[in-house]
Amino acid sequence: GSHQLALTPPMGWNSWNVWGLNVDSDKVRAAADSFVKSGLADAGYAFINIDDGWEAPKRNEDGEITPNAKFPDMSALSTYVHSQGLKLGIYSSPGPQTCGGYLGSWQHEFQDAKTYAKWGIDYLKYDWCSYGNIEPRPDLIGLQKPYRMMRAALDDSGRDIVFSLCQYGMGDVFKWGKQVGGNVWRTTGDITDTWGSMSGIGFAHSEKAMGARPGGFNDPDMLVVGNLGWGPNPRPTRLTPNEQITHITLWSLLAAPLIIGCDLTKLDPFTKAVLTNHDVVEIDQDPIGKAATRRKKTGDLEVWARPLWDGSYAVGLFNRGYERAKISADWKDLDAHLGGSQPVRDLWQRRNVGSFSGGYSAMVPAHGAVLIRVGKISK
Ligand code: DGJ
Repeated sequence: GSHQLALTPPMGWNSWNVWGLNVDSDKVRAAADSFVKSGLADAGYAFINIDDGWEAPKRNEDGEITPNAKFPDMSALSTYVHSQGLKLGIYSSPGPQTCGGYLGSWQHEFQDAKTYAKWGIDYLKYDWCSYGNIEPRPDLIGLQKPYRMMRAALDDSGRDIVFSLCQYGMGDVFKWGKQVGGNVWRTTGDITDTWGSMSGIGFAHSEKAMGARPGGFNDPDMLVVGNLGWGPNPRPTRLTPNEQITHITLWSLLAAPLIIGCDLTKLDPFTKAVLTNHDVVEIDQDPIGKAATRRKKTGDLEVWARPLWDGSYAVGLFNRGYERAKISADWKDLDAHLGGSQPVRDLWQRRNVGSFSGGYSAMVPAHGAVLIRVGKISK
């Protein structure tokens, strides 16, 4: 059942940030191929998720949802993705229409869940668009209703399907996303590839940390690294390399789903390196699933930390300012009882940097981050 799914944050790819509504079956296959060839699959990325734009304009005579001409055979596609050792995700909305104006699941929830199960779908992203016309000013019960209904439908479908809530954080979903059967829930509106968008979203998550736990995670939206553009002509992310380091550092500390959004067939070495650093991915995937909180803020300089399964800590030193600066984490910022000399590993450098008493300081570039692991690391 749903409670055994997503015990660590889902890792994968979603079509939206690169292809928008121009997604098609060949692009999805190409993404699956790239996952395997690039080593992303070996690094733990498993879900290949189709976002909006796959649906036909009308249901068939039995009321079943069908794919449009861009997806000639959903079952064949899922067989192919599964044959690569990967999982396939799909998208819908609880309203009559999706955000892109395609068919939603309104009044067909149980039928659609069965159809997804029949196709071999492993993950459903469930949006909100046009449900606002059905329920214009929803109270908490109203906000939860469509998600409870689809969870019941997924449970009834006979297949384990990860459930991703996409209602942009309304009603403090981080407090109840798990209760309605969600495995991940978006906590914000759509991300875009600017420093303002990415950092504005990421750094707003300290207060939401309580939401994260095995089986249920906050979703600050998909990764904006690599070639993307929400349409037919992908172009490189507008985040600088240091901003991309901040992005992945922050998402890993937040125990966020790592859902890549770029054209995987044009994966450059930097993007690949940022996404496959084993030490960093290990922070994101830590089995106790506790999200980081802000421990210290001095102007533009911040220290964030999360406890890990073995008693060590992942610590991010973030420089949100325009000038290179020295940032210090004190052991007491991590835990009032943590003292003495502690071993430190720099996770981006993948290097044990030594043992330090009282705390650790590093120079951090403008809009950049340093990610360390503090304490004895048991393997
Ligand atoms: C809004 C969501 O937030 C996006 O991630 C994407 O799924 C679009 N809808 C699709 O229409």
